[in-house]
Amino acid sequence: MNNIVVVGLGAVGLPLALCYALEGCTVYGVDSNAEHLKKIATYTIDYQEEDKGQKLPDIIREVTEKGNLVLSTDIPEIAKPGTVIMVVVPINVENGLLNTNPISQAIKDVGKKLKKGDLVILRSTVFPGFSEEVALPILERESGLQAGRDFYLAYCPERMGEGKAFEELRNMDLIIGGINQESVNQALSSLRIISSATVHLGNIKEVETSKIIENLQRDVNIALANEISYFLASKGISGNNSIRLANTHKRVNILLPGPGVGGHCIPWAYYYLYHIAKSPEELPLSRLSRQINDLTPLRIVNLIQNYIAESGYPEVKVSILGQAWKDYSSSCRHSPAVRTKKILIEKGFQVASYDPIAKSGLGVESVSLEECLENALVVIVSVIQEEFLSLGTIKLKKLIKPEAFIIDLKDLFNKEELKSEGFKVFSL
Ligand SMILES: NC(=O)c1ccc[n+]([C@@H]2O[C@H](COP(=O)([O-])OP(=O)(O)OC[C@H]3O[C@@H](n4cnc5c(N)ncnc54)[C@H](O)[C@@H]3O)[C@@H](O)[C@H]2O)c1
Repeated sequence: MNNIVVVGLGAVGLPLALCYALEGCTVYGVDSNAEHLKKIATYTIDYQEEDKGQKLPDIIREVTEKGNLVLSTDIPEIAKPGTVIMVVVPINVENGLLNTNPISQAIKDVGKKLKKGDLVILRSTVFPGFSEEVALPILERESGLQAGRDFYLAYCPERMGEGKAFEELRNMDLIIGGINQESVNQALSSLRIISSATVHLGNIKEVETSKIIENLQRDVNIALANEISYFLASKGISGNNSIRLANTHKRVNILLPGPGVGGHCIPWAYYYLYHIAKSPEELPLSRLSRQINDLTPLRIVNLIQNYIAESGYPEVKVSILGQAWKDYSSSCRHSPAVRTKKILIEKGFQVASYDPIAKSGLGVESVSLEECLENALVVIVSVIQEEFLSLGTIKLKKLIKPEAFIIDLKDLFNKEELKSEGFKVFSL
């Protein structure tokens, strides 16, 4: 079996490397961040992933002990021909602009070690044209080899969702583009080692674009769900319930509303596409959706400010339940809950937040749910975590102020029950 090199052992690259290692491949896992590698090597990495009931650290231990996973900060020299190198380093978005330095550096490093007969598969989300116009020339320049003749190059974006990595790496349909037929064939046989999913082929630019618009579609869809639901909330109509009913139509699929959009896939999609725009006027719907989603934390803070202005309470403790960027996640990447918290702190509110598994690094984090909720005048339910499911109105009532305002963005509580207990409620 070929050697596999996975460059970038993040939320995607690590489970990807483990999938291959579990199949018996020798996998070289490369990451430039030595601290991060140490967490993997000491089984202390906290990604919330499991495979058939086995937790991520246990999987790492198993494959390491078998010698199937070798970790390094550098791409190894591999003598055996036909090495498969997968690059899973992100293009970051900083102040609306793309930073391609990390992925370009990774590709340069790959180029330096490339041999005749090797295959490079880019698995990151990239802007249209990146594989052929940026990656290919770097690989040729650094290796002195010719793409398509001496080595193969394909693009197959990763489509998994955090928390479902192993299942989706194996079973999500694959979309593949290659610089020539042999690149596609080689990529397909490497991908087949872990996946039996249906394969769809396209030219590289179309495949790159399709990955972006999968995410963009969700950004626009969530903007619509939020626009409808925050509007309806002011009319006493539940957006959540209205959307669920609308979705019973066979051709309607509106996503559910919430605290905003986080992670780095959906919020960055617009910027990846806008990168190839010729004028600032292009992509207006996508841009507006991005703005709507970005402004959601501010909208939540406005609700609190209006409540305080109406009620006149001088001392306000705001408790935020959940800090992760999505339900049941341990990651705070671009989390709207954390952005809400940041705005509240900047505005001088007394803020407490609690998430059993996701830490924001902003401070004011309570050690327990009870400590977080104690004497709260405002409670925001931003994200669901397992522990919150058993909270219930009776326990909540014992902890928070009787006149509290509860902003339940995740449908955690029974709204009627809360109202009958005398609480003011905002729900979607
Ligand atoms: N996270 C998801 O759910 C998800 C889903 C589908 C696709 N994607 C895409 O997959 C790609 C990877 O995302 P991620 O979430 O795993 O990112 P991540 O930030 O979790 O991990 C990236 C890793 O790459 C490492 N790295 C950076 N520069 C490097 C270099 N030059 N050489 C070696 N390692 C380097 C970093 O240290 C980090 O550990 C992105 O393009 C992303 O858009 C992510």
